[in-house]
Amino acid sequence: MFKDKHIQISRREFLRDSAWAAAAAAFATAFQERLDAQQPKTSSTSQSARNLPPVNIGFIGTGTQGQTLLQRLVRIPGVRVVAVCDVYPPHLSRGVNMAGAQAMSYRDYRRLLERKDIDAVIIATPLHLHAQMTIDALQAGKHVFCEKTMAYSVEEARRMVQVSRQTGKHLQIGHQRHYSPMYAHTREMMVEQEVIGKLVHVRAWWHRNNSWRRPVRDKQYEELLNWRLYSKYSQGLMAELASHQIDVVNWFTDATPISVMGMGGIDYWKDGRDVWDNVEVIYEYPNGVKVVYTSILANQYDGYAEQFMGDKGTLLLTNEKDGFLFLEPTAEELGWEEHAKKAAGKGGTTGLVLDVTATKKKGTGAVIGGRKMEAGYETKDAYVLELESFVNDVVRNGQKPVCDAEVGYKAAVAVLMANKAIEEGTKITFTPEMFTV
Ligand SMILES: NC(=O)c1ccc[n+]([C@@H]2O[C@H](COP(=O)([O-])OP(=O)(O)OC[C@H]3O[C@@H](n4cnc5c(N)ncnc54)[C@H](O)[C@@H]3O)[C@@H](O)[C@H]2O)c1
Repeated sequence: MFKDKHIQISRREFLRDSAWAAAAAAFATAFQERLDAQQPKTSSTSQSARNLPPVNIGFIGTGTQGQTLLQRLVRIPGVRVVAVCDVYPPHLSRGVNMAGAQAMSYRDYRRLLERKDIDAVIIATPLHLHAQMTIDALQAGKHVFCEKTMAYSVEEARRMVQVSRQTGKHLQIGHQRHYSPMYAHTREMMVEQEVIGKLVHVRAWWHRNNSWRRPVRDKQYEELLNWRLYSKYSQGLMAELASHQIDVVNWFTDATPISVMGMGGIDYWKDGRDVWDNVEVIYEYPNGVKVVYTSILANQYDGYAEQFMGDKGTLLLTNEKDGFLFLEPTAEELGWEEHAKKAAGKGGTTGLVLDVTATKKKGTGAVIGGRKMEAGYETKDAYVLELESFVNDVVRNGQKPVCDAEVGYKAAVAVLMANKAIEEGTKITFTPEMFTV
């Protein structure tokens, strides 16, 4: 395991890996330019930031997702990323560059946690490290934002909830859909406006056509960079992809599953990995609702989506950004159909395109977690919104996170138990205690 290993690296290896990192950096630069165009860059010394108390952040794990978050984090007024930690030198140097001149670099996250000036920590490391790092950070008096899935095991996730409560420090989990105006809007349509009538069935899927494998020139980094493919670090597709979507099912139904069964296999990518490249899972939710989930790595035709099907209509959320409503022939008129854009659906049906700024009563705006979104929210992606909420609502104002430890825990239990059901070839029945800490 690379867990506690202090990785030594020669200059030649560093340069070789840097060449690989340069290609990734070029992509990141192009992406950053797009982000710059969307969002004005603010720094801790800008006019708006001077009016806010500064928030000092320590960042642990600056790989792919860490960099995605860091790019957005440094633009939030008043944020100072004062410390960056990673064990892989190319990622560490990239993270420090992105964080700015005030950031100190660390190889050992425990040294970063010793700093008294750090208010909060963001953790974007491989799954098997989430629990220990989060618990150590909470016990060091920091609020924590930890990427999903919350933890590698149910026991670890449970302990994270308990330590957050004991320390009084908040724990936010990175299921960013909770901060997406499109998701909040769709949930409101389903739950409050009841546009699909009685929910009878849910389908969700995440289909890709790639190996999930990263190119690694220096074999000593194989497991560090390809941790997703090895079960000692990873819980595979259910943790990496499904957890976001099963979390949405929990959220939209305001429930947790009653039972789960499934199948998995290493059916296509027979390349030394020991996590499944193909999972098919059925959950049972209250009121007879069945949730059919699939994730594969050898065909991308369907992309990824969540589809809620009721006796009056279907809500479809695709690629984490587009929403559609397909009404059944028996559905009553909603009153705003004529104003909505239309999209073609299956079998000649016409869908209404959900637009958070148009397909709802005028002037109500988007409300996420009871908080009305400020002007301009519709131009921001969910990563920006979840980070803004963490910095402003959680760290500055001490509010409970919208996607808090309990929400993350329920999603983690649901996906980790699906893996267990697949592994054991059984149907697992959940008890309410399994979802309660
Ligand atoms: N919310 C989302 O949409 C989303 C998307 C992608 C990934 N993620 C999550 O983010 C996490 C990271 O995924 P990734 O794709 O960025 O992985 P990654 O491998 O690209 O990055 C992980 C980083 O952690 C570093 N690391 C490993 N051990 C460490 C240690 N002991 N101390 C400090 N750093 C260490 C690695 O060197 C690497 O740079 C995972 O939990 C993943 O599920 C979330």
